Amino acid sequence: MRKWPGSPPPEEMEHDRGHHSLRRRREPAGFWDRGRLLRDEAFAAFRNEDLFTSLARRAWARGYTELLERSNREDVQKSPDIMKALAFRPGERVADIGAGTGYFTFQVADAVGSAGSVAALDIAPEMLEYLDLRVKARKAANVTVRRVAPDDPQLAPARVDTVLMIDAIHYVRDRTAYARKLLAALAPGGRMVIIDYRPKPMSERPWGPPPGQQFPREQMDREMEAAGFRVLRSYDFLPEQFFVIYVPRQ
Ligand SMILES: C[S@@+](CC[C@H](N)C(=O)[O-])C[C@H]1O[C@@H](n2cnc3c(N)ncnc32)[C@H](O)[C@@H]1O
Repeated sequence: MRKWPGSPPPEEMEHDRGHHSLRRRREPAGFWDRGRLLRDEAFAAFRNEDLFTSLARRAWARGYTELLERSNREDVQKSPDIMKALAFRPGERVADIGAGTGYFTFQVADAVGSAGSVAALDIAPEMLEYLDLRVKARKAANVTVRRVAPDDPQLAPARVDTVLMIDAIHYVRDRTAYARKLLAALAPGGRMVIIDYRPKPMSERPWGPPPGQQFPREQMDREMEAAGFRVLRSYDFLPEQFFVIYVPRQ
């Protein structure tokens, strides 16, 4: 039988007569020591910091994926209504920035069809790996998956018809500087769609951006105006998020 550090092997247990509990005997000195655990063979694999980090990231990615794909997300997300409002045209070129699990990516890919394209961009390798698997499983030939820098979507000038950022721009530190890069990426007649959470305490909404990353719609408008955008249209049907379409000011 395998010896697992942290619990004594069965031959080292005995019944405490009179009480129906198990008691340890013949414990080597320092058995419960952290030092002993760290030297133990069975822990060898976990002493590697890189491995630990990658395991921790995988655990994070799994939880994040489950949150994004939760079965009741539509109660607040209402993606059919969003898709209807955005009325993507066949042939449209879309950049889905902060694509995550592709919750919107594949709906948009279906809407723009084989003549269109969706660039699914993200900073997290685990999300990109997940997206890549979904692209292959769906044989979605019009979707490309790419890792980008946190402060730069690395898009070619004037090649995108719609920039889509759903629950993603709150991660960006300097949103105005970022939006200037998005402005340069837009083709003539292009638009930028931003959907993000209205501010709310975590006690009332235990998901979404933490308080330090929340901001009101008015602040968003000011930041986008400073980058050279104006509001084309906004919608109020989402219970938790603002939904704004911006276009270049001239
Ligand atoms: C809350 S998820 C939203 C995913 C997807 N848009 C959706 O609605 O399901 C935010 C995603 O943005 C990504 N992200 C965070 N900062 C980013 C940045 N600066 N550029 C691109 N993606 C980013 C995260 O890795 C994550 O996958």
